[in-house]
Amino acid sequence: MKKHACILGILILAACGRVGEGLYELDAAYAHLGADFPLEPPFDYSSSAPDYITRDNRLDMDVDDRKATLGRVLFYDKQLSLNNSIACGSCHIQSHAFGDTSQQSVGLDGGLTSRQSMRLVNTRFAALPAMFWDRRAINLRNQVTQPIQDHIEMGFSGTGNQPGLDSLLAKLQGLPYYSELFDWAYEQTGVTINKQRLSQALEHFVSSIESFDSRFDEGFATVGEIQGQYSNFTPAENRGKFLFSAPPQLDNENVRTAGGAGCAGCHRPPEFDIDPMSGNNGVDKEAGNPGGFDTTNTRSPSLRDIFSTNGQINTPMMHTGNFLEFTTIVEHYNEVIPDVNNRTVDGRLVRGLTSVKLELTSTERADLEAFIKTLTGNNIYTNERWSSPF
Ligand code: HEC
Ligand code: HEC
Repeated sequence: MKKHACILGILILAACGRVGEGLYELDAAYAHLGADFPLEPPFDYSSSAPDYITRDNRLDMDVDDRKATLGRVLFYDKQLSLNNSIACGSCHIQSHAFGDTSQQSVGLDGGLTSRQSMRLVNTRFAALPAMFWDRRAINLRNQVTQPIQDHIEMGFSGTGNQPGLDSLLAKLQGLPYYSELFDWAYEQTGVTINKQRLSQALEHFVSSIESFDSRFDEGFATVGEIQGQYSNFTPAENRGKFLFSAPPQLDNENVRTAGGAGCAGCHRPPEFDIDPMSGNNGVDKEAGNPGGFDTTNTRSPSLRDIFSTNGQINTPMMHTGNFLEFTTIVEHYNEVIPDVNNRTVDGRLVRGLTSVKLELTSTERADLEAFIKTLTGNNIYTNERWSSPF
């Protein structure tokens, strides 16, 4: 019960310590929640996406401040896992653009996820509404309860000896702060905590997480398109921008003779979302098991915020999480090696059993990296509205 006092203390007074000791203060904190709701005013969760951002997979456009606030508490609450040890925020870390630094994330009881934890950057600003590396969730609202029901991630799976989602809903209903918060978020009294409301609140929060204050945005806003020289870029960054966006011109042996690396065909600026028509990119091993095949992955998070503001990569990359440097990414695309066991690789990367050979020079590789670094924002890492309230 003490912990709840702290949660409310933080939300109400912005300082757990001020709640003081013992149950008396806890009751006092709850007393506040009636007539004069202490969460007012909530943070503003509305999007500040620039006009040139036109791809948006959110069905009902506006993010509601109250539902997002409730979603924020849920996102960071370890009570959402079976043994109160894991929250969404354990694997989706704000200081790492809402991804994880581990190749595979640790779930309940030390179990490892079968893929790398995706960065949650501009999830709504993508043409493709489907979520996960393999697109198995039809949209974000459908996705957000899946980690809770995953037997490794949060454990309310309803399989084996684990209880199902109903058991979590009853658990949340029994936590006084959730009765209060759900009533407040839905502006009714006696709101039932059901799957629909739980997913809606999480969805509002996750889809509010956005990043549009990068140097790339500054340049794009001025020039209005991906082409051309951005005056706020170095020559290397401008060359990298060209290499990223221009398709390669190939000779009849699929060797690049001119043009760029063609990244933009699949990671489409200015959102840098995945082309819904993208096939597999040739990264087809299982995370943590280089002998296994995992060829179903055709979704990528936005390529924004691959790098952190300190110039280090935020997370291991690709579903395998075994790309630890951007140089290995470029090396991979420089020549995707065809594999007879994986015929699903996109035709932009292999032609039949022949690779497209980009033959990128060391300067070109450095230029591409310099450009990717311009896609890093600031706000996403520090804005309090996306931080843990606990
Ligand atoms: C134990 C670690 C872990 C926890 C806890 C976790 N996730 Fe994830 N998350 C992952 C992994 C791993 C993936 C990629 C899985 C895959 O594609 O198979 C992922 C993918 C996602 C995606 C898909 C992003 C995209 O662009 O397709 C969203 C959204 C997401 N998680 C939200 C959440 C929410 C909301 C919660 C809490 C209810 C949560 N996650 C809890 C590890 C975790
Ligand atoms: C044919 C489409 C296609 C092309 C072209 C392409 N990519 Fe990708 N990219 C993908 C797919 C699909 C994934 C997700 C693959 C996976 O993890 O299994 C991905 C993943 C990535 C990732 C990892 C993202 C993360 O969050 O871990 C990076 C970085 C990346 N690509 C950079 C590039 C660069 C740089 C280029 C150009 C040299 C490029 N891509 C060209 C389809 C493509």
